[in-house]
Amino acid sequence: MKYEISGNTDLYEYLVAHSCRPNEHLEGLHKETMKHQGAGMCSPPASIPLLQMLVKLTAATRIVEVGVFTGYTSLGMALALPEGGTIDACDISSQYPAVGEPYWKAAGIEDKIKLHIGAANDTLVELLAAQGEGAFDMGFIDADKSNYNAYYELVLKLLRPGGVVVVDNVLWGGSVLEPNKTDDDTQAIKLINEKIFKDDRVDICMLPVSDGVTIARKR
Ligand SMILES: C[S@@+](CC[C@H](N)C(=O)[O-])C[C@H]1O[C@@H](n2cnc3c(N)ncnc32)[C@H](O)[C@@H]1O
Repeated sequence: MKYEISGNTDLYEYLVAHSCRPNEHLEGLHKETMKHQGAGMCSPPASIPLLQMLVKLTAATRIVEVGVFTGYTSLGMALALPEGGTIDACDISSQYPAVGEPYWKAAGIEDKIKLHIGAANDTLVELLAAQGEGAFDMGFIDADKSNYNAYYELVLKLLRPGGVVVVDNVLWGGSVLEPNKTDDDTQAIKLINEKIFKDDRVDICMLPVSDGVTIARKR
């Protein structure tokens, strides 16, 4: 996988070399993930310090993650959590999280990741019923785009005031600029971006990291 910033691979490599501190487990899982079909779904290494910084800045102990794939971002966030912190990690398939599990174990954080296999909408509703509103400090949404609006609403309910939700792929490879792109995924991304921009329940920031990331802080 070639990552770049403004079309420049060397610049991306420079950023990684000066922000991604070495971690054998993260590096091993990323390398392993790149061998699998769908490798493009995995966040780039540059996303990890951002997620870890947000875990620390919010002093998070409870995180909900929507979209696990091989668990690369789950591992990154779990490494930043304090002792006793947990991630409720939702994915519809158990096939790819199984790739990450040996790396979670080797890193000694497997107890921090509670995997929920099933449609994330159902899992989030269950978490809400079981834990109540405001039980979580941070959410990361990185799954099927057509459900982004539902995920955003449910995760926002799960967050405490001051908690943050991170929404991935908000620039959608540049498709957000194309008025003629009307496929379901592009439409869903355009709609959630417009909605979050106008949403006075949150403070917001959109960053050109990875495929575009919005950070929304619940007021
Ligand atoms: C982009 S990947 C997640 C990547 C991961 N966050 C990372 O960066 O390493 C999206 C994941 O969402 C999952 N997914 C798709 N539809 C889903 C649904 N309805 N409910 C839960 N998970 C779903 C897919 O199985 C896939 O593993």
